[in-house]
Amino acid sequence: MSRPIILGIVGDSAAGKTTLTKGIAQVLGPENVTLICTDDYHRYDRQQRAEIGITALHPDCNYLDIMQQQLSLLRTGQPILKPVYSHKTGTFEPPQYIKPNKFVIIEGLLGYSTRAARDAYDVKVYLAPPEPLRAKWKVKRDTQKRGYTAEQVLAELEKREPDSEQFIRPQRQWSDIVVSFYPPNEDADESNGHLNVRLVLRPTIPHPDFTSIINLTRGSSDSAIRLGLDRDMNKPVDVLEVDGHATLDQVNKLEHIMCSDMPYLRNICDRESNPELGKIAGTTGETIQSYPLALTQLIVTYHMLKATQIFQ
Ligand code: G6P
Repeated sequence: MSRPIILGIVGDSAAGKTTLTKGIAQVLGPENVTLICTDDYHRYDRQQRAEIGITALHPDCNYLDIMQQQLSLLRTGQPILKPVYSHKTGTFEPPQYIKPNKFVIIEGLLGYSTRAARDAYDVKVYLAPPEPLRAKWKVKRDTQKRGYTAEQVLAELEKREPDSEQFIRPQRQWSDIVVSFYPPNEDADESNGHLNVRLVLRPTIPHPDFTSIINLTRGSSDSAIRLGLDRDMNKPVDVLEVDGHATLDQVNKLEHIMCSDMPYLRNICDRESNPELGKIAGTTGETIQSYPLALTQLIVTYHMLKATQIFQ
């Protein structure tokens, strides 16, 4: 294998990037994966940002030129000396020497904002939860892990909204897959286990052939797994939806489609002969948090493997 396979996970603050990134790294085997967070390319530290009155979401607040240079280096298998931004202190730490593994996952706010950066990825994912859910996730994370009060987080969200609108959300158009976890109904509890997922599958990369799902679910309009046609940002797309209450049997059918031409995934999903790997895939009965999340991880992993074929 001549160069690493690069996956992008882009989305607004607290859209679920790290959760998805970690899950995919688990499936691929952490030893095979290099994780990069583009927050490290912030141009200003927290105090400077406050003084200047700029948010971390603004392109001018980030060294996007250096980010894209380093992404191109990683794509050709070369090492980089990456800056390090600490979310704990809001300042920069000494740079890190990073040599890419077989797979590189780049997560962050502005990963698709320039043409040169976009060219670096093999697979591009954009995370787009409904805004009220993202706000809940952001309050939860920033109060529990980053030392902010709920009021501070809500005020920050409001301050950042114009930049989210202008710089973050438009990047959705460049992605191969748009992932939206959403509660089954408006006032549902936010608990992950019950979230549904809507996956927009753009024809920019070859997706597994999910059409047999249509036959499986024909006639039952309330099926927990649905495939349909839609438009996203004015372009025709396939849309796959998986509900949080899908059964293991239904999930197995989707897994089967992905595993049929991907032996590595077959191994990962084989709970009977390989219970530990089944757990990693996230779909073993006892350990399951969320079938929609586990299946999303598997679909993205499928695409990374498709790009390499190294496990075949
Ligand atoms: C958001 C983003 C982070 C970014 C941060 C900077 O929370 O999700 O990824 O680095 O803004 O703000 P901070 O709270 O560190 O000053």
